[in-house]
Amino acid sequence: MKENDKRQPFTLKRKWPALIGIAAIPLILITLFAWSSGWINIGRITSKQIYDDFNNTISPFPSGYRRAHGKGICFTGVFRSNPEAAQLSKARVFTQKDIPVIGRFSVGAGNPHVADGTARVTSMAFLIKTDDGQEWRSAMNSVPYFHVATAEGFYAGLQANHPDPKTGKPDPKKLDEFHSKYPESVKFEKWAATAPWPDSYSGASFNSVNSFRFISESGKETYVRWVMRPRTPTHEMTEKQRKEADPNFLDEDLIERLKSGPIYWDMVATIAEPGDAVNDPSQPWPSSRKQMVIGTIEVTSASKQSTGECRDINYDPTIVPAGIEISNDPILRARSGAYSHSFNARLREIGTGKASKEIDGKK
Ligand code: HEM
Repeated sequence: MKENDKRQPFTLKRKWPALIGIAAIPLILITLFAWSSGWINIGRITSKQIYDDFNNTISPFPSGYRRAHGKGICFTGVFRSNPEAAQLSKARVFTQKDIPVIGRFSVGAGNPHVADGTARVTSMAFLIKTDDGQEWRSAMNSVPYFHVATAEGFYAGLQANHPDPKTGKPDPKKLDEFHSKYPESVKFEKWAATAPWPDSYSGASFNSVNSFRFISESGKETYVRWVMRPRTPTHEMTEKQRKEADPNFLDEDLIERLKSGPIYWDMVATIAEPGDAVNDPSQPWPSSRKQMVIGTIEVTSASKQSTGECRDINYDPTIVPAGIEISNDPILRARSGAYSHSFNARLREIGTGKASKEIDGKK
């Protein structure tokens, strides 16, 4: 080096901070990728953990069944939109006339052999496929809101409800701990204690519970939840009637009613206002919110879930057409993963001959 050259000689010692900086870039990128892919899961509940809990504890029943809502019946019908709905969403479902529907009614329990008289929660699922191949899938419950706001809360609820081996019932102390950690669940418990006992699917209301974003042709975004409001009057059952009822009265009633003609539900959207809890399914919106009938489902026929088309459908509510988007509600994402695990497992069981005869349609 020349005498007047002020530059410092290259040494590893001087350059190591720069080298560490360069080496850290790929490390940070890999970590971010792993985090977003769910490989790193500190404090997060995965849909597989939730599914495993269902699989191991809620439904230790013959395989081939859905791991939740295992008992149900397929239906087919027609969706007719209300032209006004096109103001809210550009989805093809709101412009095409008379769209075929493949749906399913079910009871909310995991046990596919549960007696219908013990089922307070009933459900409807639909798949509406438009002529351009797009699909809108939904699985709705008769509950007005969910018991928790997050997947962690849902998993904690499953854990708290595990039967104590000594009593065969959930441990009240664990339930208390769950309710104090997830206070939103107390509101739900109160509702559940007084909820109506349905005597027929035909008179039950089914709620989307989660929120969705409707996108109009001009790009306007509107958060909505919807309810399938029955046109058939609702009747409640007394405790005596429930105990004496046929264990499969819900399916039998539906088949009997359809002999006299179709059964109708109006799809009523509730429109959120700024500040409403659009990402929290445990929080109802004020009852003053604007509502709009956006369509009608006409149910025309029913068939056993062993032979009907609904058997091999995953009613994942995150499958929506262009013009409808899912909100950031974490329960929606948890549902999608858990439904997929359940769907894969039950179809694998049917495909490999491990399913119950009742569900795979064999004689
Ligand atoms: C984290 C929360 C939830 C989890 C983990 C979960 C899990 C599941 C699973 C595993 C299935 C069976 C899917 C299949 O095998 O095809 C299922 C079915 C179903 N769930 Fe959920 N669920 C959740 C929340 C909800 C909510 C909020 C609703 C109502 C708005 C709902 C309504 C239904 C209905 C109606 C079915 C039956 C669908 C059918 O007929 O195939 N679930 N759920």
